[in-house]
Amino acid sequence: MTAAGPPGLLVDGAREVVTMAGGLRRGSTQGQAAVLSAADADLAVACWEGHVVLAGGREEVTRRLAADGLDPADPSRFGHLDARGGTVTPGLIDPHTHLVFAGSREREIDLRRRGAGYLEILAAGGGILSTVAATRAASLDDLVTGGRRWLREMLGHGATTVEAKSGYGLERDAELRQLEAIGRLDAEGPVELVPTFLGAHAVAPEFRGRPDATDTYVRDVIEVQLPAVAAQGIARFCDVFCEEGVFNTDQSRRVLEAGTRLGLVPRLHADELRPSGGAELAAELGAAAADHLGVPSPAGVEALARAAERGNPVVATLLPATSLFLKGEEYGPARELIDRGVPLALGTDFNPGTSPTPNLQLMLSLAVLRMGLTAAEALAGVTINAAHALRLGDSHGAIEPGRQADLVVWDVPTHTQIPYWLGANLVCAVVKRGRVVWGGAPD
Ligand code: NIG
Ligand code: FE
Repeated sequence: MTAAGPPGLLVDGAREVVTMAGGLRRGSTQGQAAVLSAADADLAVACWEGHVVLAGGREEVTRRLAADGLDPADPSRFGHLDARGGTVTPGLIDPHTHLVFAGSREREIDLRRRGAGYLEILAAGGGILSTVAATRAASLDDLVTGGRRWLREMLGHGATTVEAKSGYGLERDAELRQLEAIGRLDAEGPVELVPTFLGAHAVAPEFRGRPDATDTYVRDVIEVQLPAVAAQGIARFCDVFCEEGVFNTDQSRRVLEAGTRLGLVPRLHADELRPSGGAELAAELGAAAADHLGVPSPAGVEALARAAERGNPVVATLLPATSLFLKGEEYGPARELIDRGVPLALGTDFNPGTSPTPNLQLMLSLAVLRMGLTAAEALAGVTINAAHALRLGDSHGAIEPGRQADLVVWDVPTHTQIPYWLGANLVCAVVKRGRVVWGGAPD
């Protein structure tokens, strides 16, 4: 963790504060970012002991702190961060990554250029399975070191909370080792990690070629891996790659129900490459999120819309870098999902095979340029809605009194410029639990 400092932090000099106050966004509220703005850049956010106290005009914030006996000018009580006329948002939340792995897969770019499909490369023993071979051979320290490198990049681009999956072990001990690496990185901080077990990412190589290979492997996930993962106590979610040709809906249901019995919340890789019944299954199981949704069926969209209407929303988590990296055109029906009242989140899907980018800012640009979202809709997708996708919707993802003080200070005067400066890193400073953990040191 970061060194102890004063218990308070005052961020001031902001022209805009995107609070995202007001809870989960869906339908017409997806684009309501609850923005405070002040042409004279006098907005402030006060934090105390890791939580937001309030946001507003500097004078009012100072007055209300004084009424509580707190003087923001007292350096023993408050650090200070000057936003220099920029924009403050909640810390970004990446709700879908495969952070911990070994090796790299740049060779597949060329295989795809020559016409090989993603699942074809996997079926031939490459793809995910080549990362599995490298990850099984890596030590815990190797995995921690690799994860730390990419977490620094994520933090530097504004991410303060990151979901991270196993799924490159595909056997008990290697899956446990990946989860342990995730647990260590979380304990190390400052980025907070949310661990997910993804034993059902592909059929392990030693099962392939057997009759009923997939069902036999699913039994291994359920009977061998899941009980050990639950006993280890690190994973919070259970995920499955539910896709035609990988795990079908029956196999996915079995894994996710077994996970639920052990206290792991279900989430899915759903309908990434073909409509495979993943969105329908996510709605049926009350999953926290249905991820990818590059090509859900009309019935899948309908099921997600109904779940949201019933007050049991599954967060549709779209992963545009994967679409860009694999195909360059299929970004999922983002507008339709929003129009049907489904809450939308965005993630990097950071992984060595389909999305080697740790940069959530880029997802905002792709969402605006390729998926038809407004800047505010996209920002909701990497803050409050991403928090809900991780079941952290009451404590993370917004600048509201009592919430965890995770903030980003951006070097632009308004949030609408964040997706606009394509490919630039606009982050000046990142605050995690009320402490400056990247950039602009407090004076
Ligand atoms: O989300 N589609 C399945 N899993 C990852 C890719 C994993 C890999 O290719 O290594 C994804 O795209
Ligand atoms: Fe993924």
